[in-house]
Formats: sequence, C-alpha cells, structure tokens
Amino acid sequence: MNFPITRMRRLRKTPGIRNMVAVVQLTANDLIYPMFAIEGQGIKREIGSMPGVFQLSPDRLLPEAEKAVQAGIPAIILFGIPSHKNKMGSQGYAQEGIVQQAVSLVKEEFPQLVVITDVCLCGYTSHGHCGVIQGGEILNDSTLDLLARTAVSHVQAGADIVAPSDMMDGRVAAIRKALDQKGFIDTIIMAYSAKYASGFYGPFREAAGSAPQFGDRSAYQMDPRSGTDQALREVALDIEEGADVVMVKPALAYMDIIRAVKDQFLCPVATYNVSGEYAMVKAAALQGWIDEKRVVLELMTGLKRAGSDMILTYHALDIARWLKES
Ligand code: PBG
Repeated sequence: MNFPITRMRRLRKTPGIRNMVAVVQLTANDLIYPMFAIEGQGIKREIGSMPGVFQLSPDRLLPEAEKAVQAGIPAIILFGIPSHKNKMGSQGYAQEGIVQQAVSLVKEEFPQLVVITDVCLCGYTSHGHCGVIQGGEILNDSTLDLLARTAVSHVQAGADIVAPSDMMDGRVAAIRKALDQKGFIDTIIMAYSAKYASGFYGPFREAAGSAPQFGDRSAYQMDPRSGTDQALREVALDIEEGADVVMVKPALAYMDIIRAVKDQFLCPVATYNVSGEYAMVKAAALQGWIDEKRVVLELMTGLKRAGSDMILTYHALDIARWLKES
C-alpha cells in the first residue's frame, strides 16, 4: 500500500503514539558500572582520558558503589590496580590482593549489589600481557591455572560473577572446573567471548596501567577483520565450556556481531561499551559539539536494539540519573 493511503508519519504524531510504538526500552537494570580499585587509602584520582572515571582506593570505592546502588544499577564490575607487579602477576590471585579486598568490602556493605570481577593477568604482570610469557610468547595452557586461581580467589572474597577477559583457549572450562571443585557451583561465569584486539582500549590501559610492554594482544584477542563465523565459534565454545553470559567487546564497531550472537544463541548477551568509546563521547561533549545525554541514550538504545541484554558502560551513573529524570 503506497502513499497517500500509507503515511508513516501517523505513528510518529504525538508523544503518546510514539511511546506506544516504541519497542526498545532502556532501564537501569540493563547497566553494569565498571570501577577501578587501587591499592592505598584516601585515593580518588581521575583518569585523564576518562573524565568522570576514577581510580579509587577501597575506602573511597564504597561511596561510589553506593551511588550505583542508589541509582538502581544492579551490578558493578571491578578492575584492580596493584602496587606491585611481577612476571607471573601474583597479586592477581593473592588472597589480600586489591580486587579481593575491594570485593569483600563492597559485599559486606552492599550485599544486594551484584559484584562482577574481571579475571585477567594484564593488570598484574610486569610485561602487561594477559598470560604467562616464555621466550616472548604468551603461553596458553600454563596461563589457565593462574586464571582459575584468580577466579577462585575472587569468589572466595565474595564475587557473584567472574568475567574472564584474557582470551586464552579453554579458560572458561578451567575456571568452571576450579570453581566447582571448591563448591562454588552456582557462581556465574560471564565470558568475554568475542573480544577484539582494539584501539578502543587505550584509555582503560591508562586507567589500569595495563598496556603491554612489548608487542600487542593480536596473538590472543580477535582480529577486527575476522568474520562473524569466528565470533560465533568463540561464543559456542565458551557456552559449551560453561559460560552463563557471553560478551561482545568493544560494542559500537561490533553491533553486527552482537546481533549475530543474539540470534544464534539462547544465552544472555552482555556488551562492553569500552573506554575509548566513552572517551570519544566525553571529548566531544566537553567541546560542546554534541548533546551528551541525547547521544549516550541513543547509543545505549542502539546497543539494546542490536541485542544486548546488559551493557557495561562508564556512563552508567549518568544514564540511570537521566532515565529517572524523564
Ligand atoms: C583486561 C581488560 C581490558 C579491558 C577490560 N578487561 C583491556 C585489554 O584487554 O587490554 C578493556 C576495557 C575498556 O577499554 O574499557 N584484559
């Protein structure tokens, strides 16, 4: 049926009609707020390339976590910045490591807040890679044991969900097995399944001090030029190995992957609106070049429409506030 019988503008005529035909609904429940815990006391240090995001010592982390609770955000994800790094990244799985401290403090104060921990070695190794190094190579299989130890130590400290972000083969199975052996059969694994070697992680590496000291991560993170089939295989393997939630990361340049994963699998899909994506929006907003609220809400709506069931984003507190206002 053509014009003038059909007029698409009829369904856009008033706010009431537009609300009726709207299908994508963003709520605070969709959000996961990333936070950086740094060893020390009284530290609240803003990250230069991420205005509004801070490195927080455990005492300063609590008031920030409380903001998430009060905003109705169900979950945070914690990254740790240790005071010492070494070759094997041992502070990553130390019982009194920074993430372990932060988790137990937050869970004690806000038991209802879902606490996710990023499981990786790059923030803890002196070389900045996500695995054990030998002869300039990142060894897959000997890394698995350290990742499993890290995950167990996070869960012992109280983490509800562990999120391996290293991209080693077999790490979900290794973590599932280690957790089950310790009796943590109900702990959720949120796997960074389709994680690309991306230029958009730059500001995060400033925040976490986790830039690789030689080479890059292309031998373990995915090639942006690889096809959807490779992403689907990664996701399929992670689900087979026991992942409960799968993730696509970064988000904005990979919306086709989000949609493909959502269509193919019956598993909740998380997407990570990463540091570089945040930095771009913030920079333009600070210049007055874009309307930050409109642009952020539009991006989040796009991510939901693409198939995201949950979104990790540094904009989380602002989004929750904007949603409340409207
Ligand atoms: C650790 C990790 C990274 C991010 C999340 N977990 C950095 C990386 O892989 O280099 C990036 C998150 C962001 O950019 O916001 N492996």
